[in-house]
Amino acid sequence: MLIHLLFFLFLVAQSSNGAKSTVQTLQVQPQYINPKLPPKSLSASNKFEGSSDLVNLRYHMGPVLSSPINIYLIWYGKWAASQKLLIKDFLLSISTSAAPSPSVAEWWRTISLYTDQTGANISRSVLLAGEYSDHLYSHGTHLTRLSIQEVIATAVRSKPFTVDHKNGIYLILTSVDVTMQDFCRAVCGFHYFTFPSMVGYTLPYAWVGNSGKQCPEVCAYPFAVPGYMGGGGPGALNTPNGDVGVDGMISVIGHELAELSSNPLVNAWYAGEDPMAPTEIGDLCEGLYGTGGGGGYIGQVMRDKQGRTYNMNGRRGRKFLVQWIWSPVIKACAGPNALD
Ligand SMILES: *[C@@H]1O[C@H](CO)[C@@H](O)[C@H](O)[C@H]1NC(C)=O
Repeated sequence: MLIHLLFFLFLVAQSSNGAKSTVQTLQVQPQYINPKLPPKSLSASNKFEGSSDLVNLRYHMGPVLSSPINIYLIWYGKWAASQKLLIKDFLLSISTSAAPSPSVAEWWRTISLYTDQTGANISRSVLLAGEYSDHLYSHGTHLTRLSIQEVIATAVRSKPFTVDHKNGIYLILTSVDVTMQDFCRAVCGFHYFTFPSMVGYTLPYAWVGNSGKQCPEVCAYPFAVPGYMGGGGPGALNTPNGDVGVDGMISVIGHELAELSSNPLVNAWYAGEDPMAPTEIGDLCEGLYGTGGGGGYIGQVMRDKQGRTYNMNGRRGRKFLVQWIWSPVIKACAGPNALD
């Protein structure tokens, strides 16, 4: 607080000097906070804070998503127009240059540092190529890792949704009332690829569920904190967009897109010896949102006048809180809001 006051006085002094300062330089700066919260139980084993030579992230010779990435969205269940808009604004922010720093596009730059054996980087061009609304729950309100492929098959058989087996990735988002095998207990989202016997092609896909009613303290962390504090009770941070479930999904979507792009066929970038349980570039930084995270701290993030917590800007003035990603260059977790 003191620092902000001094900064303000400095600006006032500048302007009374008749220096070049304008009225805009006096606008309220976001506050920096580094809250300590109970750790997210799910990620505790994978979480890795800071840098280390002990992280043995290796390349296993498979492809990364190096041509322009076409996202096909499947909205499964009931989605409000405002929720769809929020998620689409995040996805469209990845390739926009029209957002102030720290931005979602800068966050994606860490991901685009990954290459495959041909020397091709992960693409910086991420487009929304199609949407399909499965609002009648074509495969019920409980899905499994296998039945999710049926959902994709149903979508790609419909028109105008297409099979884009060159540049397409499929993102299936399930509404708050849909349960999924392992959801909340082991996963908040996952990515894999479809089998030709089920969908007709091998298509990389990711699934993320709205945890708002089922387990926000696990999957919408840090907007709801676990255990004795009870759901969204004291300690939880205010969301940037007013929707605990969907604001929580944004970080999980970012995590899954980063991993899908760097390990689309589960034979490219991961740590650990077991391809059945790979530790990928998002897993290494789960729960970390800024500089100085670790030991229960989430890292330095911003809080605006309305108390909304965020660490990056997107298109149309949007703010998001998205976890950091492991950088292959600095061999540490990295994000656009880094202070060092
Ligand atoms: C591609 O990846 C390499 C290696 O990480 C990096 O040095 C280079 O800057 C990347 N290029 C782009 C366009 O991101």
